[in-house]
Amino acid sequence: MSSAPLLLGAILALPFIAAVIVSRVVWPLRTTRILPNRERVVIIGATSGIGLEVARLYAGRHAHVVVVGRRIGLLKEVARQLEPYASSIHPVAGDVTLPEDVRRITIESLQALKGGIDTLIICAGGISVLPFSELAGTDTAGTGAGAAAATTSSLDSSDAIMKLLPGDAQAALDASVRIMNVNYHAPLNLTSHFLPALTQTSIAGNIMVVSSMAGKIGAPTRSIYAASKHAAQGFFESLSMEVERTGVHIGIVSPGTVDTDLRLSAMDLPKSKADDLKERVASGTKKGAMTAWACAEGIVRGSDLQQREVVMPWFYRVSLVLDLVSPWLVRWLAQKKYGYL
Ligand SMILES: NC(=O)c1ccc[n+]([C@@H]2O[C@H](COP(=O)([O-])OP(=O)(O)OC[C@H]3O[C@@H](n4cnc5c(N)ncnc54)[C@H](OP(=O)(O)O)[C@@H]3O)[C@@H](O)[C@H]2O)c1
Repeated sequence: MSSAPLLLGAILALPFIAAVIVSRVVWPLRTTRILPNRERVVIIGATSGIGLEVARLYAGRHAHVVVVGRRIGLLKEVARQLEPYASSIHPVAGDVTLPEDVRRITIESLQALKGGIDTLIICAGGISVLPFSELAGTDTAGTGAGAAAATTSSLDSSDAIMKLLPGDAQAALDASVRIMNVNYHAPLNLTSHFLPALTQTSIAGNIMVVSSMAGKIGAPTRSIYAASKHAAQGFFESLSMEVERTGVHIGIVSPGTVDTDLRLSAMDLPKSKADDLKERVASGTKKGAMTAWACAEGIVRGSDLQQREVVMPWFYRVSLVLDLVSPWLVRWLAQKKYGYL
């Protein structure tokens, strides 16, 4: 039998196959629609750690980059270092926990990017490192001379009752407000401010928000931090469903431990104890930590592929599955990691 009809069929099918590949594989790639050297990116929290590496990666791809943080000197230095690589780079200083700064950061970023934005990376954040009992002073309550009596016969004595009160509940509350402000309220407010521009000025607007594994699974000494990251996860997960129809994509990044100085600026350290506690924190384990560079690569890849969830390193995905089928094991591992067994 002649192979001519087969050959003719194959030739006729080629444009059809090419059209399917382009529409299903090439076009959905965000980097096809927004070329890396045209991408307009705002990175919140780019003076150090993960955000700085994200800025380096985008600059290396010749993107238009705005770097944001409070330390103006560092910001200028970052801009100076990355200027030879980026298509344009602009430092914008501000504190994202202050509403007036967020408004100004938005206006200045959009001005610098000539009225448009494609990608908002929210990296700024703060951590808590103290056991809650130590922070709130719940471990010292009831340990005074009258404690034993208070728990048995004389609960009606006001002295004994005073000994059952926490040492410093206000410190715990204050730390919680500070950490919620930077990890939850600031990302929420930044999103309110940048969302209209992402929707109206980009053909594929992206928000990548850096949460943490602590936003998925709690851990000892991380109670307030985990609460703030759980709040952010809940907010962005819900919002991503709302905004999908506007064409804006939201990705939530959940890294495990990353080798940065985050813990040195822990937001629950009382000023009086800051130095000795910082020493304790600095000497704590970062065993198995991923590098900030590897984490940044995961964030940029997640943005390019418009992934909804980026969990890093990969084996933490196993712990998410384990948490469903054997939560006791994950709990045991977390307690073991932080010395609570
Ligand atoms: N390191 C880890 O193990 C780890 C693990 C999981 C998730 N994460 C998350 O990754 C993110 C980045 O942390 P990192 O490890 O890279 O720590 P980092 O080196 O301390 O970086 C934090 C960045 O946030 C900025 N920032 C903090 N508060 C700010 C504020 N109020 N306004 C504006 N910028 C602010 C800081 O800049 P300025 O000080 O100049 O303002 C800095 O650029 C955080 O959200 C953190 O929760 C970290």
